[in-house]
Amino acid sequence: MDYQPYQASMLALGQAPSVIRETFEYGNRRAKEIGRENVFDYSLGNPSVPAPESVHDSIRRMMDEVDSVQLHGYTSAIGAEGTRQAVADHINSLFGTGVSASDIYMTCGAAASLTVTLHAILCPGDSCMTFAPFFPEYRVFVEAAGAKLTVVPADPDKFQMNLTAFEQLITPETKAVIINTPNNPTGVVYTEETLKAFCDILRAKEAEYGHTIYLIADEPYRELVYDDNTKVPYLPNLYDDTFVCYSYSKSLSLPGERIGYIVVSPKMKDSRLVYAAVCGSGRALGFVCAPSLAQRVVAENISATSDLSIYRRNRDLLYKELTSYGYHCIYPDGAFYLWVQALEPDANAFCQKARDFELLIVPSDSFGCEGYVRIAYCVTTEMIERSLPAFKKLAEAYGKV
Ligand SMILES: Cc1ncc(COP(=O)(O)O)c(C=O)c1O
Repeated sequence: MDYQPYQASMLALGQAPSVIRETFEYGNRRAKEIGRENVFDYSLGNPSVPAPESVHDSIRRMMDEVDSVQLHGYTSAIGAEGTRQAVADHINSLFGTGVSASDIYMTCGAAASLTVTLHAILCPGDSCMTFAPFFPEYRVFVEAAGAKLTVVPADPDKFQMNLTAFEQLITPETKAVIINTPNNPTGVVYTEETLKAFCDILRAKEAEYGHTIYLIADEPYRELVYDDNTKVPYLPNLYDDTFVCYSYSKSLSLPGERIGYIVVSPKMKDSRLVYAAVCGSGRALGFVCAPSLAQRVVAENISATSDLSIYRRNRDLLYKELTSYGYHCIYPDGAFYLWVQALEPDANAFCQKARDFELLIVPSDSFGCEGYVRIAYCVTTEMIERSLPAFKKLAEAYGKV
């Protein structure tokens, strides 16, 4: 047998940067050529609003007052007891759930929460479903766990969940479904009505197939909603067999600190065994003892968020101006993305054209949907203002305005 120096699928992943990263790197090269202020980079979902001052206060105080060996030492593999208790209390106070510290597993952001969860439950031959458009890393995470990702086509009308297509595509091989609301890339928040109908289907299919179908709620944008009447239902209250994969990357603007958690709903069938599988998966993947300083920081700032009003202001400005130039935009209730129909059928060609005006936006294809672009408005309001003439010229190039 031929000796293979590395895993071919890993090599392929390492050599194929995502289109989002490629766009970001192009922006860095372009900034060197023409100056950062002349490049309008809307590629990355990197929070532009600083972490709350209370987070900085916590870090400063801990550095001064907490014993260094304690502060920087390993915590329990599943996370510090105090942090898990703070997380559980917070969830219970918000959603009226009966979660305990022993249902929480601390991780390194939503990415680790997802990979740990998926490895805990998926087996070769299983299918995991998700709804287009979706966060492209889902495919990487699901396939790395040995399963197949089945994509439910988008509902091109409102970008809610396409439940008709879901019912047609679900099979006895379906072990799990990942959903993400508020959604990256559309900014859409799935309505309670849609989610209830979806959970009814899941329950019916569990009964029909005679096995558990797990719901994985990927929730890094839970707090990023901009209108008082927009509610983000808590999925464990709608469906028992639910995992919540949460992250503080966006709500506290701490993406570099790599901190988040998994909730294994105590209402889930065999939840203690499933939790043990999550612990095993975290161990196998090396996601144990989540960053210790960050665990203490989130426990102390459990109800805090960054100043999200800045994203609301950005959303309002961009949506209003782009629609006035003739772009068809999906109104985003949450997250910090605007989903805009490309002005030609090929979104990749449209994004290349946008580069003529120094606008860096991401084509929809890698999100599992054609003909749209994602504009990440987690940027300064001032950059949005300066970029508006470029959006207008781009529209004019297609005969709009
Ligand atoms: C939908 C979605 N899930 C998961 C992640 C990963 O988040 P984290 O940085 O917490 O790992 C992201 C990051 O942008 C995301 O948009």
